[in-house]
Amino acid sequence: MNALVLNAENRTAEQQRISPPVPAANELLVKVIAISLNPIDPLYVQNPLASSGRVIGSDFAGVITRTGPSVPTSTGLKEGDRVAGFLQGACSVNERPGAFAEFLTVPWDLVWRVTSGISIDEAVGVSLVGLTAAQAIWYRLGLTTPFPYDPKDILEEHPEWKIGSPTDEHDTAPVNFFIYGASTSVGLFAAQMVRLSAKASNKTFRLFGTASKARWEMLRAEPYVYDYLVDYLDDDWPEQIQKLADGGGMHYTYDCISEGDTVERTASILAKNGRSAIVRSREGGAWKGEGLPVEPIYGAVWEGLGEEVQYQGFTVKQSPAARGFAVAFYKWLSVALGCELRPIPIRLMPGGLKNVVEDGFQLLGAGGMKDRHVKRTEEWMRPVSAEKLVYRI
Ligand SMILES: NC(=O)c1ccc[n+]([C@@H]2O[C@H](COP(=O)([O-])OP(=O)(O)OC[C@H]3O[C@@H](n4cnc5c(N)ncnc54)[C@H](OP(=O)(O)O)[C@@H]3O)[C@@H](O)[C@H]2O)c1
Repeated sequence: MNALVLNAENRTAEQQRISPPVPAANELLVKVIAISLNPIDPLYVQNPLASSGRVIGSDFAGVITRTGPSVPTSTGLKEGDRVAGFLQGACSVNERPGAFAEFLTVPWDLVWRVTSGISIDEAVGVSLVGLTAAQAIWYRLGLTTPFPYDPKDILEEHPEWKIGSPTDEHDTAPVNFFIYGASTSVGLFAAQMVRLSAKASNKTFRLFGTASKARWEMLRAEPYVYDYLVDYLDDDWPEQIQKLADGGGMHYTYDCISEGDTVERTASILAKNGRSAIVRSREGGAWKGEGLPVEPIYGAVWEGLGEEVQYQGFTVKQSPAARGFAVAFYKWLSVALGCELRPIPIRLMPGGLKNVVEDGFQLLGAGGMKDRHVKRTEEWMRPVSAEKLVYRI
């Protein structure tokens, strides 16, 4: 089969012919129809953690071509069904193949079903960033889930998160939620999830965010419905948010950029007892913040795969509880995507696997937003804004 394979010495990836994988007893063999790109895909090609020869890439959507003998028949999963999910790609030291290939194998419970109302191109933009946002909103920040889920197991692993609600349960005042980077793919799902939690908890939320002005109209409309937006290019955006909130602080913040001074500035608008989550680790060095009122909660989406991950100079421990949440989330996604949760906009890129490095990875830079400076003139090489880059395989 064709696959996009890491060349660690030259810090690139190349299309190669390799043997297709064979599914283990609890796995599915999936023929990949589309892949979508995440900033971590180019980051760990340009700064390799893995060794040469590893298939790169995370997000996939495709069709089941074989089910392992231990896949329960009660799942109803069978050849020809459309599914989506993500693998870890070359984003760790651990030797596990990624998704940018014609075929891949995946445990049966770490995919979700793509129902008939959703296209494969839409579906492929959901799994990794959707789970990233879901982990932050629903178990790190602890908002109410719109599906049955008991956070007991995850709180046993992380007792430090069990700190009570930042708002008084009898308080009828709105809950203030702030998203830095509202037009990121993660942010587009996070906003929808805050709205779903508001409905599930019967509380009023006010949603605040930063995005470039060009995205405000989209973000004020369904399904995001921001109440207040400011431009992150304005130097005084934290003051603008405080003014819009009548001096009240944010009960929850989610920094979907976590780069440079964004974590520190986001912390400056947090209410007393407020909680904050971030997308990049302090250890990775993307941001600096001294004397923060609370240490923001970081987590890697890989936890959801339930394996230990050696990553960015530290180890993400194996977490059965995080895997359990991913399975519950995917089960919900199989029925909720298209009605309760909307897929986010996609940009269908020309070409296939062989164009990923020369085009898609150019657009995403080496992981950081500040490194994205592409000077190409083709229509599909415009800057990425509120959308996922998708390739058909
Ligand atoms: N912890 C994890 O497991 C995990 C998982 C997934 C992603 N991530 C990280 O999360 C971040 C977002 O990923 P993504 O895939 O959602 O990104 P993305 O969709 O590629 O983000 C693109 C958006 O970023 C916005 N942007 C660029 N620079 C900005 C700045 N300085 N301030 C505010 N917004 C800015 C742009 O907004 P405008 O168009 O409005 O200018 C653009 O819409 C990345 O750093 C990624 O590595 C972490």
